[in-house]
Amino acid sequence: MKEFKLVIIGGGSSYTPELAGGLISRWKQGEFLAREIVLVDIPQGQKRLETVSAFIQRMVQKAGMPARITSTTNRQEALDGASFVVSQMRVGGMKARSMDEHLPLKYGVIGQETTGPGGFANALRTIPVSLELAQDIVRICPKAWLLNFTNPSGLVTEALLRYSDVNTFGLCNVPIGIKMALAKALLASPERVSIDVSGLNHLSFVTGVYLDGKDVSDQVFGSPLFPLYLDQTGIGKIMAPYLQHLKIIPSSYLQYYWGKNRALEKEKKDVEAGKGTRADEVMKIEKELFEMYADPRVDEMPPQLKKRGGAYYSDVALNSISAMVNDRPVVEALNVKNKGAVPGIQPDAVVEVSCMVDGRGPSPIAQKPLPPEVLGLVQKVKAYESLTVEAAVHGDVQKAFFALLNHPLVPDADTAASILKDILAENAEFLPQFKGKTEV
Ligand code: G6P
Repeated sequence: MKEFKLVIIGGGSSYTPELAGGLISRWKQGEFLAREIVLVDIPQGQKRLETVSAFIQRMVQKAGMPARITSTTNRQEALDGASFVVSQMRVGGMKARSMDEHLPLKYGVIGQETTGPGGFANALRTIPVSLELAQDIVRICPKAWLLNFTNPSGLVTEALLRYSDVNTFGLCNVPIGIKMALAKALLASPERVSIDVSGLNHLSFVTGVYLDGKDVSDQVFGSPLFPLYLDQTGIGKIMAPYLQHLKIIPSSYLQYYWGKNRALEKEKKDVEAGKGTRADEVMKIEKELFEMYADPRVDEMPPQLKKRGGAYYSDVALNSISAMVNDRPVVEALNVKNKGAVPGIQPDAVVEVSCMVDGRGPSPIAQKPLPPEVLGLVQKVKAYESLTVEAAVHGDVQKAFFALLNHPLVPDADTAASILKDILAENAEFLPQFKGKTEV
């Protein structure tokens, strides 16, 4: 069985036990052994890091897996000898996410962790830190693969591939979530189902469905149960007739574009009622989770972790790692350089697309064109993403303004300028690249 060292950046995350659970089951199935697992976090996250690390030790011990678990706030030391690095950090923590979600509401725009101005602010904070990580990897363990879950995943991956030499790809649990829902609807085990995925992170579309390698797309899209499938993927029944006609299943994040008024109204209502935004809710869930992780009697994943949105994230990562270490090809939807696989998007831009993953890493699989009914939206969001990457890397206020102006959720130039001004002011401590450049 292949063995390696794995480093988890943002190891103090409440999600990490899911990854540990996945590592244990892969070892049990004889796929590979993560012999050394190092959890890394920043000094402010030390307490959580220790709690998660001790909890994972208990999980590993219970399973009898011969792995060494350590934790540290010294990233560079941790990277020595690593074969895989998983990045799942959140620059500014949940507090910054809450800010990202509340700020746009002031301007009648949806506040969302990855989509719209919230995702934009997140990208400005996160891209420089992710590039520093990439530089460390290139210097200390140049052959290692960086698996990027750090949000906004597509944008961060584009920055990494454009501005560093690290071996990397971006991951997301949305496509695998749709695959699981389809498997359930088709009454089949997930291994029997595969899907064609094409688009961008949090704006990708399933355009083909296969059962045991046989194309069952017509059966799925033609089924009277189609609205039900959609409901299971989180998109809701409302768009079903339109999407059924187009023969696509979207990521649930399409609701923020096609259902933006509805989503905005709901968010505003929740805030007015004192429920707050999703970040505020997640902070409560995390409090509960960390109390359990800290309980020395707890040695398996608590069901409360299911209240988080990232279900199956470890499956995508570990399916890919397994394919790479064993050189046993699998198809996974990942964020990689397009290279022509998604027609209508620049070849060097990052897309979320079905990839063949093997010993050489992922290669995008050429997809049929997205229908014009959605391609325009995807192209516009790609323009926003590419401008955001430039803005984040160079601290370029002009690019930042045009990035926001190009985002389909931002209504006009005045709103873009006001939101940008607020974002730069509120995030100043995390945006050294914009220091002294706040004039919009
Ligand atoms: C999904 C998305 C992630 C996102 C998460 C939010 O997993 O793919 O990008 O971070 O949902 O879940 P949360 O529980 O933090 O709201």
